[in-house]
Amino acid sequence: MFSFFSSSPATNSMPTLTATLTSNATNTTIPTVRSRKRKLVISYVYHYLSLVYEFVYTFFIVKPKQHLISRKRNHTQISNTATLATTSNSRPTTHSKGTLQYYKGKTLVLDLDETLVHSVRLGSQEADNIVNSCIKRKQIEVQGEKQSLLYQVYKRPHVDFFLKTISQWYKVVIFTASMSEYADPVIDWLDQDQTMVSHRYFRQSCICREDGNYLKNITMAEPDLAKVCLVDNSPVAYDLFKDNGIPISSWIESPNDESLLDLLPLLDALRFTSDVRSILRLQRFGL
Ligand SMILES: *[C@@H]1O[C@H](CO)[C@@H](O)[C@H](O)[C@H]1NC(C)=O
Ligand SMILES: *[C@@H]1O[C@H](CO)[C@@H](O)[C@H](O)[C@H]1NC(C)=O
Repeated sequence: MFSFFSSSPATNSMPTLTATLTSNATNTTIPTVRSRKRKLVISYVYHYLSLVYEFVYTFFIVKPKQHLISRKRNHTQISNTATLATTSNSRPTTHSKGTLQYYKGKTLVLDLDETLVHSVRLGSQEADNIVNSCIKRKQIEVQGEKQSLLYQVYKRPHVDFFLKTISQWYKVVIFTASMSEYADPVIDWLDQDQTMVSHRYFRQSCICREDGNYLKNITMAEPDLAKVCLVDNSPVAYDLFKDNGIPISSWIESPNDESLLDLLPLLDALRFTSDVRSILRLQRFGL
């Protein structure tokens, strides 16, 4: 999608910006917080401008009629942008033959409970609390040592759209501190065609710290830390790899939760960086 920039004199300064950001990450002198913030803002603006440009280019120049379909400024539009990005990636011949320049092959590691779903054991007190009928649910039976346990699993709002979208951008891996007996059927339910989630890691892959917290070794999913990020509602999970963590609020029951949709612009932009840490480490400075 960056093909236009490489051939347009008007935007020649853009690649330099990326280069500056990248080399900055390896520089030994630590820049001030202010300059880091400024660079983050600039890089966001850059990525949004490029998305907007592609939108305009594709719909008004390449396919003049199709833009009429996508006028609405709500989630429908996110959907269109996502589809658009995918379409142009999978068919580069339309207007960017051989010049796709973003860094491919990134891995997105996702937590499961309270990030993508929430589960309650049937029969427990909590089970009666969730009443909102518009939240998708499924009962999952887990064979315990003595008896089988029944769980009601609820999907976080927009999780289906989220997974569908990001699986076209990233290699998607689920890394959960839950046991596989429970998590496996839940992931099967989320990824019914078995096409979106490439790999699954369960509790036995986590590092259990003395305080009882589970840490996730994301290098198991992708050894190159420049190419992997972890979305987890529990920041402890990426304690070993703070610069690779993307926080998300815990989800329990709210039917109006939009946190997964809110992540899409960041995730969209991150796939164009040479090192995700150059952006993600700026979060620690309040951005
Ligand atoms: C968002 O788009 C949907 C689907 O087209 C539509 O039903 C809804 O009214 C729109 N919402 C707003 C706030 O425009
Ligand atoms: C994480 O996993 C990698 C590869 O499996 C291994 O080499 C490394 O020692 C692990 N790190 C920790 C802290 O366990």
